[in-house]
Amino acid sequence: MNLQQLKARLRLPVIASPMFIVSYPELVIAQCKAGIIGSFPALNARPAHVLDEWLNRITTELAEYDRLHPEQPSAPFAVNQIVHKTNERLHQDMELCVKYKVPLVITSMGAQTTVNDAVHSYGGLVMHDVINQKFARKAIEKGADGLVLVATGAGGHAGRQSPFALVQETRAWFDGPIALSGSIAHGSSILAAEAMGADFAYIGSAFIATQEAHAQPEYKKAVIEGSAEDIVYTDFFTGVWGNYLGPSIVAAGMDPQNMPSAHPSDMDFGGPEGGPKVKAWKDVWGCGQGIGVLHDIPSAGELIQRFADQYLAAQQRLDRRVA
Ligand SMILES: Cc1cc2nc3c(=O)[nH]c(=O)nc-3n(C[C@H](O)[C@H](O)[C@H](O)COP(=O)(O)O)c2cc1C
Repeated sequence: MNLQQLKARLRLPVIASPMFIVSYPELVIAQCKAGIIGSFPALNARPAHVLDEWLNRITTELAEYDRLHPEQPSAPFAVNQIVHKTNERLHQDMELCVKYKVPLVITSMGAQTTVNDAVHSYGGLVMHDVINQKFARKAIEKGADGLVLVATGAGGHAGRQSPFALVQETRAWFDGPIALSGSIAHGSSILAAEAMGADFAYIGSAFIATQEAHAQPEYKKAVIEGSAEDIVYTDFFTGVWGNYLGPSIVAAGMDPQNMPSAHPSDMDFGGPEGGPKVKAWKDVWGCGQGIGVLHDIPSAGELIQRFADQYLAAQQRLDRRVA
């Protein structure tokens, strides 16, 4: 599958990003049925054999949906692989991606030729998640087809660079698929990402506040009550810089204004040694800055319909200005 074929199967140019703890099959299936790429981290399926069940369920339910809706079939889905030395399941999980011919594999925290080759063996695509040009060039050298540019303000592990800087600098040397990530939670921002030169908007946090998200009710409530000011950027919880909901840090007994730093030698996806006793993701909630425009908890399909309406309205507004 190439970029054009992938885009032709979407209602909106959106990839719903994979979220640890939050993205389970129910959400992925709802996103794909509504016409955007749904995704989940392979590590959400626990223990490891559960991934086979999840992939079986997703492919079966989407095939059944496509049979009943040939006029508007579902969008492809994606699996996220953490390509980090601490991920002992990588090989096993990749075998399942090959078995089910997962259309898009999103890799993060390490680029590996063998992973890219495995996906290409059945005609799948790989997009690698990066925060700067150094990692972007390395990912493409190692054989990734596309890039997810994780800008400042993104939920979970996030970069520090402006989305404009990231897209401009990447487009100067790369003409393949680009997804732009960070605080996108409105249809007009999806259009803006395209106008900047990205092929896809990459959206995570907005989907935490949906019916199908596998998140506690308190987490969903904190998302719709929060805004950009509530988001705290720290490396304390995992050793990697990321964005979290301030109120969940307060609830864990810490002061978001005075977060200690993780020691660099402790850098590990599992969290710094001797680090916090609270669990990142489970107790301290990952979240991006874009949540100020979310005020209720609709179904994923309803949220995607809103995005589509807002996208169209933004397009019409721009057309009128040019005319
Ligand atoms: C709660 C949460 C968990 C996340 N888990 C992962 C993950 O397991 N793997 C990954 O590649 N990215 C993960 N991310 C990052 C997202 O894939 C994406 O970059 C981000 O959600 C985009 O920014 P936004 O949340 O502002 O839309 C996570 C983000 C959040 C909010």
